[in-house]
Amino acid sequence: MKPLKGLILSGGRGTRLRPLTHTSAKQLVPVANKPVLFYGLEALAAAGIEEVGIIVAPETAAEIREVAGDGSAQGVSITYIEQDAPLGLAHAVLTAEPYLGDSPFVMYLGDNLLREGITELVEAFRAEAPDALILLTKVPDPENYGVAELEDGRVARLVEKPPEPRTDLALVGVYMFTQSVFDAARAIRPSPRGELEITDAIQHLVDTGARVDPHLVSGWWKDTGQVQDMLDANALILDDLHTRVDGELVESRVEGRVVIERGARVERSYVRGPAVIGAGSTIEDAYVGPFTAIGEDVVIARAEIENSIVLPGSSIADLEGRIEASLIGRGVRVGRATGPPRAYRFVMGDSSEVTIL
Ligand code: TTP
Repeated sequence: MKPLKGLILSGGRGTRLRPLTHTSAKQLVPVANKPVLFYGLEALAAAGIEEVGIIVAPETAAEIREVAGDGSAQGVSITYIEQDAPLGLAHAVLTAEPYLGDSPFVMYLGDNLLREGITELVEAFRAEAPDALILLTKVPDPENYGVAELEDGRVARLVEKPPEPRTDLALVGVYMFTQSVFDAARAIRPSPRGELEITDAIQHLVDTGARVDPHLVSGWWKDTGQVQDMLDANALILDDLHTRVDGELVESRVEGRVVIERGARVERSYVRGPAVIGAGSTIEDAYVGPFTAIGEDVVIARAEIENSIVLPGSSIADLEGRIEASLIGRGVRVGRATGPPRAYRFVMGDSSEVTIL
């Protein structure tokens, strides 16, 4: 078999993660202080894949290029491929056809995370050489996913969000294809939501007699398309943290698995892990609770926060209630009015969300 290439899909609209996605790509939102996209790049590198194409949208192409660069930090060589419009996963595959050529490839959705990586799956694909291989996981609510039905150990049918699912096997955002997928993607028509669906392309492969193998995921899998998923992924990754304190602790208590990066300062505060405090951040007279990732150059003063993600350069100060289950963007200021009028004052981007006590 020719060497496998990787294809990471980092285009899309990211409507479910607004307002963050008004100004930035959702694949760059940090999970445990590392962009989601990097987990995918590392998973591909760990599976021995050296050449990786990244599908990017015109609006976020420059930003993704700047963060991921040539890929050498992750041990891969990146080629950026612009998709003019988010017309579906199968459309993204067709956009990448000139880059992929006749190489078999792994397609990895840029907002997905898999605890066990993809090495096992890539090995199964290399050993069995089917036309395609899809990754599946058992879920309690299959009606919310693309669901696979199997026959004799092969994929027989894929149904998108079936009201009455026949199995609990949901499609995970990692797929392995040979070049047969290009003709399948060309043969299908856009779905009612106007996208060329990858499930339709795979169904077309099955219907035309191609061999599509299933592979069950062993560890957890997370699609970070929505705020709660992002927070869940953050918690899952932080759960595997190893304690490391490179920053400064002054009259503070640190408990559990905690990383405090160089240049961070924690003063008269209580940090209860798993949690990470980014470089250059200041935590003062504050509480940082479990499953919290504080980015670089953040200030948390006289406030409490847990189970949340705070992006770089933001500050949170003088709050009475604890912040919980929140995703806070870059350069955000959350504070208290010092004099009258005693009023709430908000400057929020489109589609922001605020819940007050
Ligand atoms: P989705 O999360 O299904 O789509 P989306 O990013 O448009 O998000 P939303 O539904 O919130 O508007 O996409 C899965 C991944 O694939 C994600 O990393 C974006 C990427 N993608 C592309 O690269 N091109 C596309 O045409 C589409 C639809 C998605």
